[in-house]
Amino acid sequence: MAAPTLDVHLTDADVRASLRADVLRGLTATPKWLPPKWFYDATGSKLFELITELDEYYPTRTERGLLTEHADEIAALTRAEVLVELGSGSSDKTRLLLSAGTAEGSLRRYVPQDVSPSALTGAMEDLVRDYPELEIHGVVSDFTDTLRSLPAGGRRTVAFLGGTLGNLVPQERAEFLAEIGRTVHAGEFLLLGVGLVVDPAVMVPAYDDAAGVTARFNRNVLSVLNGSLDATFDPESFAHVAVWDDRHEWIEMRLRSSRAQDVRIEALGLDVHFDEGEEMRTEISAKFREESITGELAAAGFVVDRFWTDADRRFAVLAARREG
Ligand code: SAH
Ligand code: AVI
Repeated sequence: MAAPTLDVHLTDADVRASLRADVLRGLTATPKWLPPKWFYDATGSKLFELITELDEYYPTRTERGLLTEHADEIAALTRAEVLVELGSGSSDKTRLLLSAGTAEGSLRRYVPQDVSPSALTGAMEDLVRDYPELEIHGVVSDFTDTLRSLPAGGRRTVAFLGGTLGNLVPQERAEFLAEIGRTVHAGEFLLLGVGLVVDPAVMVPAYDDAAGVTARFNRNVLSVLNGSLDATFDPESFAHVAVWDDRHEWIEMRLRSSRAQDVRIEALGLDVHFDEGEEMRTEISAKFREESITGELAAAGFVVDRFWTDADRRFAVLAARREG
């Protein structure tokens, strides 16, 4: 069993600088907003795993079903020697790809990448034990700015699962896909999991579950700011809100201040006022249509070879090949 490698491209100082810049920008804007990557401290990563087990949260189990059904075909189609996974989290569903890839015979190396060191190292410990034939090379980085620092060599497939693409705003998403297009070579694949547009009566409860786990996940970002920037948020004074935005075709998560209040963000020397009822956006989760995602991938140099979806067309896994 080979020892795993872990490359850390984000120092504590980088993380602090990026958090400070994001919070300054987002909390001085009108309306206020925060980028979703700050959800994922150790607590947030654990809460996300709990979300994936909720009855209402269909994306994870639907994608798992698709990967279970098609993993062998994915392995045969891509013949990946290296599987790079962006925003890999627990790497749980990825095991289906790792097993199929090793059975097919090409796969040698798995490169899980995530901004959350706790999620990544937790996943790697188990993977090293369960896949002794694979070289496991983890990377702690931000996938929106450091794709070029991913280890190179070997025929690669880049996996981006779970619908995380939908958490990027459209311009970020276009830049991100273009960067993947520039990073991979002709004939290599992007394996993408995305949520599809379905009835809001199905989508909204997935982001507003009866047990309140998503509400805890959402409010956790305020605890991250309290802990990292010496802020004075009272998370309980913010209500969790999840709405379907029909124009943009995305779910929007917000935190609504239940009273007028001032919050001090000591590390920024900033006082932020919230009116009673004021809403701050904390995440978008865009849903896609087959034509829209195929078009976005084409703009980044990819042609969709396979589009797998479930019987209810709630979620899709796409194998997109980089054109020469
Ligand atoms: N792929 C997993 C996890 C999805 S949760 C699944 O399908 O279940 C989203 C993951 O992306 C989290 O692990 C989070 O830490 C990571 N993430 C969010 N923003 C990121 C960023 N900017 N760079 C790298 N990882 C990020
Ligand atoms: C990680 N990402 C795809 C999740 C989603 O569905 O947008 C994050 C999430 N937010 C609330 N619930 C889950």
